[in-house]
Amino acid sequence: MVENNLTAAEVIHMQEQYLMKSVEAWNDKVFVKGQGSTLWDIEGQEYLDCFSGVAVINIGHAHPKMVAAVQDQVTKLTHLSTLYRTVPMPLLAKKLAEIAPMDRGKAKSFFCNSGTEANEHAITLARIASKKFEIFGLQNGFYGRGGFTMSITGLGAWRSGLGPFMPGALHLPMYHCYRCSLGHKHYSECGYACANYLKIALKTQTSNRTAAVVVEPIQGIGGVVEAPPEYFKVLQPILAENQILLIVDEVQTGFGRTGKMFGIQHYGVEPDVVTLAKGLGGGMPIGAVLARSDVADTFPGPDFSTFGGNPVSCRAALAAIEVMEEENLTENAADVGSFFKSALLEMSRHHPFLDDVEGKGLLIGAEITLDKTKRTPAGNDILTQILDEALKEKVLIGRGGLYYNRIRFQPPLCFTRKEAVRTLEAFEKALSIAEKSAQ
Ligand SMILES: Cc1ncc(COP(=O)(O)O)c(C=O)c1O
Repeated sequence: MVENNLTAAEVIHMQEQYLMKSVEAWNDKVFVKGQGSTLWDIEGQEYLDCFSGVAVINIGHAHPKMVAAVQDQVTKLTHLSTLYRTVPMPLLAKKLAEIAPMDRGKAKSFFCNSGTEANEHAITLARIASKKFEIFGLQNGFYGRGGFTMSITGLGAWRSGLGPFMPGALHLPMYHCYRCSLGHKHYSECGYACANYLKIALKTQTSNRTAAVVVEPIQGIGGVVEAPPEYFKVLQPILAENQILLIVDEVQTGFGRTGKMFGIQHYGVEPDVVTLAKGLGGGMPIGAVLARSDVADTFPGPDFSTFGGNPVSCRAALAAIEVMEEENLTENAADVGSFFKSALLEMSRHHPFLDDVEGKGLLIGAEITLDKTKRTPAGNDILTQILDEALKEKVLIGRGGLYYNRIRFQPPLCFTRKEAVRTLEAFEKALSIAEKSAQ
């Protein structure tokens, strides 16, 4: 099969020649079509998508409602910038306020194009609102590829090229009990030492001018690592006492992904600001900062984003949220996700390489380790082999984590139990082959 009169080999050759070397591709398939949880490559082969283009395609590929909204808007008005009033942007802001995990009905939005931009903007807003400048990220956290977001990112591999890092960019220990950087075994024994560490960090690393802490409820690029149950409840009083804002990065956990509309809603606290992108646009590029109205109102501007609030992306986002609500995709993510996670946990009891299954809803990750006692991370060769073997079974899965050795499962939220079983079977086969060949 050819697309635009091109074969797969020609596309790959073009990519190698004209794209920057830093653009990594996980395999050599060239995808040309998607529908629901299914993808087709240029050769007509069919695949099950268990990665959703990094947790973006929450409503499934090419949902008819979103396609219709985009097609309709493209014929009417594609762009004007935020300097002119258009209809879809305030409609979307109103909808976000209605579903916001804080200051419901009143929270205010700023629209941009990506998660990076949303986090950069949220940091700027927090600095203006608090008149302070230090910002904490978390070890093992990923916040984007801009100057400040890269500086607070806690994954060395994703800080490449930037240096020196931004003054005022600081880190808290990761909340990853499996690899606790403070040397503890489990939150049940340590009393949330990672969250409480903020008290000592404020005294030792700051000049008492900390504006915000930026936290993901589940670290996605960090390999799907969940904040332990009381993490935010321990953190919040320390923030309140020191007038520090809580920015929750919902770029990956937002829009039903974790089995609730927002990941933070599992933790019983209300953030001051949330950052959104990925699943918000159902596949169209869009980012947003959603803030408590009193925090938002501290920023007099001027503020601007050329493509922020783009009418086509906003219409797509409105359609995507409508689909999530109409088709109960959040509930489906909770149901199929818990089925998937239980099966994976059971699998981990029988496989020497599979450990530490974590996640909520349809955001699930697991450690691939060479030794469960020592928790030795498996190397690149084994991870590549698992992804390649799963691909032979026509299932796309992902990877991530501090050692790039965690498998990530994050399919569209319309995923069925049948598709979950197919994924589990493909993954178990791939895992068994990797375990056997390492003997
Ligand atoms: C939690 C989180 N925040 C921010 C970003 C950056 O988003 P973008 O790639 O849209 O700039 C990502 C990207 O993967 C992410 O996972």
